[in-house]
Amino acid sequence: MPVAVVVGTQWGDEGKGKIVDYYASRADMVIRYCGGANAGHTIVHGEKKFKFHHLPSGCLYRRTTNILGNGMVVDPKKLLEEIDALHSAGIRPKIIISPRAHVVLPYHFVLDGAEEERKGKMAAGTTKRGIGPAYADKAARFGIRFSEFIQPHIFREKLRMLHQIKLRVIEGVYGMHFTGTEEEIYREYSNYAQRLSPFVSDTTELVHKAIANKRKVLLEGAQGTMLDIDHGLYPYGTSSNTTAGGACTGSGIGPTAIDEVIGVVKVYTSRVGTGPIPTELSDTTGNFIRDKGGEYGTTTGRPRRIGWLDLPTLRYAAKVNGLTGLAFTRVDTLSGLDKLKVCTHYRCKDKKVVSTPVSYVELEACTPVYKEFPGWRDLGHVGWLEAAKKGYKALPPQARAYLEFISREVGVPIYLISVGPGKEDTIVLKDIFKRK
Ligand code: IMP
Repeated sequence: MPVAVVVGTQWGDEGKGKIVDYYASRADMVIRYCGGANAGHTIVHGEKKFKFHHLPSGCLYRRTTNILGNGMVVDPKKLLEEIDALHSAGIRPKIIISPRAHVVLPYHFVLDGAEEERKGKMAAGTTKRGIGPAYADKAARFGIRFSEFIQPHIFREKLRMLHQIKLRVIEGVYGMHFTGTEEEIYREYSNYAQRLSPFVSDTTELVHKAIANKRKVLLEGAQGTMLDIDHGLYPYGTSSNTTAGGACTGSGIGPTAIDEVIGVVKVYTSRVGTGPIPTELSDTTGNFIRDKGGEYGTTTGRPRRIGWLDLPTLRYAAKVNGLTGLAFTRVDTLSGLDKLKVCTHYRCKDKKVVSTPVSYVELEACTPVYKEFPGWRDLGHVGWLEAAKKGYKALPPQARAYLEFISREVGVPIYLISVGPGKEDTIVLKDIFKRK
């Protein structure tokens, strides 16, 4: 039975929620391996819409075990809100938190805002969820793991030491006032710790057991390749390894355990936050796509920046993730335009550049070179659903030509195509998790 990773190939918000939900409905175990409340998955489940920030997408399925992996930084308050929302909708999923996952605390939020402000032009436009400071603490060994968080005396002892240090940094370095006393934070957060304690268990052992028992295991990425702390466009990304390698370190499995790595590709580019986007559309076409696709951040509500599809990014994503398959999203959203463009490569100081350069400075100097494609017509909700039922051949021929061109250029086969928000709006070319 396969162990599969689903990653975003672009700047996050590729529509991973929908794709992961599709696979999660067939999986035995779903593991989130990176990030925290910065992520936002919107999942349409029947008549209901759910917004997940921490929770793995398998939470909507009774038979699925959902793991918050050790690679995550978890905001306990937000996580409890998500769990409570599901409980009040009558959904009681099986959730397990890694004792090695780190806790995001109030001073992380304050530092996130303060650091962004001081960075000026270098600011990444973070979600202000305390992600960077929490991962910085993890790397500096100033962090608090869940195993420590749920033991009151250890949490208290570490918080006492950390609170003093953070207070000095916030007030002394950033000249800001931090309102939470150690006692207040302890009281509020030890309550969260108590409530979350029953969810904490050794997830590494559970994942290995599932793999040994040949269960269908899905590793769910958050954000996208270009936001990866090592492989993304530093410093305009996030603070974790969002790429497929992060699935190993963020869950406790080795690379040899992974059978499939599926890259989610939105058929155009979008991103929130700062940094260069060579194919950015600051015109009516960009507005058309943004409005049609409802392209506003799930976590922050910010309007997403829109651009044409960028092949150098996808070629790069195929390499650094070791992609075995592509899952295309938003084929319906991109419909209704007469002509489309795809950036095939960049021109950078008279050089042809076919894969994302190392730094944002080089990328800023790149000019996109485009190939034009005829657009395809909008089939309407019923028409797309009908096409999904009939299969690949029912897609408009222009759409097929566009997708096949991308797949060929990237050198990775198409596994799945999404033509709408629901699970039923999906065309499957290769089924990695066949139903039992
Ligand atoms: P942070 O992860 O909140 O520190 O934000 C760092 C950068 O990553 C910012 O440009 C964010 O907009 C972006 N980012 C973080 N999480 C997501 C996500 O889930 N989708 C899209 N962009 C994200």
